[in-house]
Amino acid sequence: TTTLAILSALPEEQEGLVHMLQDQERIAHAGRVFWRGTLHGQSVVCALSGIGKVAAATTATALIERFGAQAIVFTGVAGALAQPVKVGDVVVASHYVQHDMDASPLFPRFELPGYGRSVLACDAPLSQLLAQATAECLAGPAAGWAASMGLQAPQLHQGLVASGDRFVSGAAESAALRASLQGAGHGALAVEMEGAAIAQVCADYGLAFAAMRSISDKADDTAHVDFPAFVQKIARNYACSILPRLCEL
Ligand code: ADE
Repeated sequence: TTTLAILSALPEEQEGLVHMLQDQERIAHAGRVFWRGTLHGQSVVCALSGIGKVAAATTATALIERFGAQAIVFTGVAGALAQPVKVGDVVVASHYVQHDMDASPLFPRFELPGYGRSVLACDAPLSQLLAQATAECLAGPAAGWAASMGLQAPQLHQGLVASGDRFVSGAAESAALRASLQGAGHGALAVEMEGAAIAQVCADYGLAFAAMRSISDKADDTAHVDFPAFVQKIARNYACSILPRLCEL
């Protein structure tokens, strides 16, 4: 049997999921807490990375080296970058780019030195399962969560997501980021602070990776207000709804 790792940055992003684990065991390691158990018969290990690419990379590495994870699924929130992506929507990543990677003029802007490319693909079959589990959640309980915050019916998007060590919280900044990515042919749906680092670790180890991000804010001047409110009221519901469905698929 294979072990699935479930990773989030913030406690709210994984709230309740740990309580659903059977035969749960708590292990402290590398300044993090890991929970091992089973979910609908699937062997899983849950972990919180904290915020940022390095914290995400060390946690992903520990999940692989120490906990024997054979696939990693990330669940959390992101800021919207593309026009059609609204607060409350969910993005399942197809690819990742590190928007703060810039070794120019030695390498093209955004290219990962040593990898010969800027964009890393998520695992297509695992991402498809995650998208299916997410779609079921959006058609079910998520519609009610969105309505409770006055949001429209949440939509599912699949595409490129950008990560970097920066909380994007200004209209001018997010416009510049959007333009810079688009200029390199990397139009991104959303921005967050961990996914591309985990994608790189999984590429290094040959592991399947998939990620779902509910949209907490528009990475604009109100991002610092919208983000905590959304994390508190809505994001905390997703992991408990989506991950058990994923384990059943
Ligand atoms: N995660 C959620 N919202 C974000 C934003 N605006 N910038 C970076 N990461 C985020």
